Amino acid sequence: MSPVIRKHADVVAILHAPEAWSNQVSSHLNVPNGMDAPEHTRYRKLIEPFFDAQTLHRFEPVLKQLVTRLFRDLPEEFHVESELAYPFALQAQCAFMGWPRELEAALLQWIQRQKKASAAGDRETMRQLAAEFSQLMVAEFNRARSGEYPGDSVTSRLVHLSIEGEPLSDEYLVSIVRNWTVGELGTIANAVTAIVNFLQANNVVRKQLQQATEHIDHAVDEILRFNAPLASNRRRAVCPMHMRGQAVEADTVVTLDWGAANTDPEVFEQPHQFRWDRDPRDNLLYGAGIHVCPGAPLARLELRVFTQALLSHKTRSPAHASP
Ligand code: HEM
Repeated sequence: MSPVIRKHADVVAILHAPEAWSNQVSSHLNVPNGMDAPEHTRYRKLIEPFFDAQTLHRFEPVLKQLVTRLFRDLPEEFHVESELAYPFALQAQCAFMGWPRELEAALLQWIQRQKKASAAGDRETMRQLAAEFSQLMVAEFNRARSGEYPGDSVTSRLVHLSIEGEPLSDEYLVSIVRNWTVGELGTIANAVTAIVNFLQANNVVRKQLQQATEHIDHAVDEILRFNAPLASNRRRAVCPMHMRGQAVEADTVVTLDWGAANTDPEVFEQPHQFRWDRDPRDNLLYGAGIHVCPGAPLARLELRVFTQALLSHKTRSPAHASP
């Protein structure tokens, strides 16, 4: 069993010592999260511009439009996760990539089959699903290469990436996109579910935000601090060492438990309470160190636009929704 790191101080120490704690924890290609420096640095530099202010500025009206449509078409009674959170996450990620809406249904089906196979530990089906995902993606890459996508779309920009003059292989591109889309869907959907449930149960914060929407980012980060949308990530010890007086052998793989670290009572007084006055620097929602989430500006934009729409939505409250 992989040791689980739950204390905030220990997680922070590991995140800031990438030379001692490697991200190479699996034989599967994972760009850039499964890489260490200097390879990690090269790929990280390639992907960061996809989350810059200009890209997000261009994406914002598209996002607002899809959120408006989603709330407009929401039945009076709805199930938060399946009728609001997943559709939002899926539509937002597809729109960000610039993909046609037809792809949403194929991806949703893929995710449902993947969840089932993963819960059953069915490795053969998971291998097959990975191959199907690659096929779906390579088809879009080829469409982008033949000019079917606008030149400034994220997918077009991706297929034109190169390192030291060499274009990225489809294998690397698929790995990057897997992380941005199906890899993040669950996280965004969990975040949306947590926000809806929290604001449903907390009238005071809801009213404060309705009157001062500029505080949405701050409030969302605090809500998600104690409702971790992402469970964990892993690290591998590069050399033998000691942690809290315990010997750790080289190659030990540990699990960083984001939810536990972000509710560590040594750092957060009344850790499961929403508080406006906490120091945002203690919040590990998006990680820290060289692997800190590069998609955080996109995630914050998506959650802000979603929360703005939620706060002004008038239909029956989701707490009464049928499953
Ligand atoms: C609420 C939403 C999100 C949360 C809570 C979240 C959280 C995190 C965390 C904690 C890490 C650090 C992992 C580690 O240290 O091993 C991370 C890394 C990463 N995230 Fe996010 N993330 C979110 C959304 C996104 C989105 C929307 C994207 C892209 C579309 C994204 C792309 C990535 C990538 C590529 C990495 C790996 C970075 C690296 O290894 O250098 N994330 N995320």
